[in-house]
Amino acid sequence: MSSLDKIIDELSINEKKVLLALDKLSGSASPKTIMDTGDFHKQVEVMNAASWLQSKKLVKVEETIQTVFELGKEGKIYMKKGLPEKRAIKHIVEKGGQCSIGDLSEVLEKFEIPIAIGWLKQHDWATITKVDGNRILTATDIGVDVVDKQTVPEKTLEFLHNHPKSDIDIEENKSLLSRKHMIKEKEIVQGTISLTDYGKKIIDKGFSIDEEITQITTKIIKEKEFEKKKIRPYDIHAFAPETFGGKPHPLISLVSKIRQIFLEMGFTEIEGDFVESCFWNMDVLFIPQDHPAREMQDTLYCKTPNKIQLSDSSLIKKVGNIHLDGGETSSEGWGYEFSKDEAERSLLRTHTTVNTIRYLYEHPKPPAKIFSLGQVFRNEHIDSTHLPMFHQIEGIVHDEYATFQQLIGFLSEFYQRIGFEKLRFRPGYFPYTEPSMEVDVFFNGKWMELGGSGIFRPEVTEPLGIKSPVLAWGLGLERLAMLIFDLKDIRELYQSDFSWLRNQPLL
Ligand code: PHE
Repeated sequence: MSSLDKIIDELSINEKKVLLALDKLSGSASPKTIMDTGDFHKQVEVMNAASWLQSKKLVKVEETIQTVFELGKEGKIYMKKGLPEKRAIKHIVEKGGQCSIGDLSEVLEKFEIPIAIGWLKQHDWATITKVDGNRILTATDIGVDVVDKQTVPEKTLEFLHNHPKSDIDIEENKSLLSRKHMIKEKEIVQGTISLTDYGKKIIDKGFSIDEEITQITTKIIKEKEFEKKKIRPYDIHAFAPETFGGKPHPLISLVSKIRQIFLEMGFTEIEGDFVESCFWNMDVLFIPQDHPAREMQDTLYCKTPNKIQLSDSSLIKKVGNIHLDGGETSSEGWGYEFSKDEAERSLLRTHTTVNTIRYLYEHPKPPAKIFSLGQVFRNEHIDSTHLPMFHQIEGIVHDEYATFQQLIGFLSEFYQRIGFEKLRFRPGYFPYTEPSMEVDVFFNGKWMELGGSGIFRPEVTEPLGIKSPVLAWGLGLERLAMLIFDLKDIRELYQSDFSWLRNQPLL
């Protein structure tokens, strides 16, 4: 089917009717004229069809602002009664060409008399003379002549009475326009619909207007109407207004997607509290108590409760020994006296690794594949790449035979499933893992650092009674989101910009 045929095939009856009407009206007309010519019932039918035709580039709909006129308050009255000066000159002529001003009250109201006299003089229809102290009006030849004629102002009033909102000749109607409340001026938007060259081609090609099925109903199917009538094909490329239904916030969708991926990879989700002790957030992870990251600039400590009491004194002792001299391990430890007071300080968790380690404490036996997705808090200045609260994607694989290669494998698999092919693994450092590894992804021509990983050190696992390797990672969610949603600024994720939210595709 040629493209012209296809377009014709997809025309609705009203669209065809508009095209044919335009053809009759030599290519261009107002919606009202098209309505009358094309046998439509309502102007909206024309406008609807025209906007479809416009989206198919067959017509052009243009709007111009037009000044139009209609009768004002007084205009309506004098249209019926006649203008005061006209009624006055008629009376003068009927009286034999002359009458006194007082006589005018037989045909005019009191307030109309000065108006009438003013215009009689102005038009030179009558002259005024004083006879015996009486003012006498005498009709001129022009005045006599005008009695049986329709003057320009009278014609205009009648025209606007019959055709409100029309254009009139301003020059010709100067005097009428100068009179108060006779004529009102208005601005209206006037649409013009015109055929494009493409539209003309469609008309030249020719089409017929047959009744057709535009919407399938049960009746049409039951009574097999489709066998008698043509079904109008859908134009799936036709313009349609966008609708924005409710949907989850993009970040929530991303969290769901990540959760789904880990579940599919055989992991189980765990959760934990936001408020934790230094002990679980750091000490158990072999982060020394004088580690710079514990200073106020990084960790948000809690005022209430400012302490969280630790119950497992044997574990505290073991961890204390590890920090002092490596305890039962071959490590030398950090070489300082461990403080229980420091360990009991309360804080907002700085990483979800605290969940992981608590889980391992409660479930020291392998195998386990665990993940968590949750907020962490850091005393950071907000800028385009940092937030004081963000999410981490955390996980461990605890298995007798787990290897470092598998750690790379799990992380590659995860990032591939989320849509990133090009990854880079670099050596890293964390006090609780050895070896440690950083993960970067390549996106839009740049490497982006997404998180840390490694195998927990014996200093971490030994006090918990864990003997098998534990592969662990903690990845940034918001950084990943920036790549996926193509954002330059991490803050945009939390700014609730409506247009951004609406236009974000579903993940
Ligand atoms: N906890 C680390 C962070 O917050 C990430 C990490 C988790 C590193 C587990 C190694 C192992 O950046």
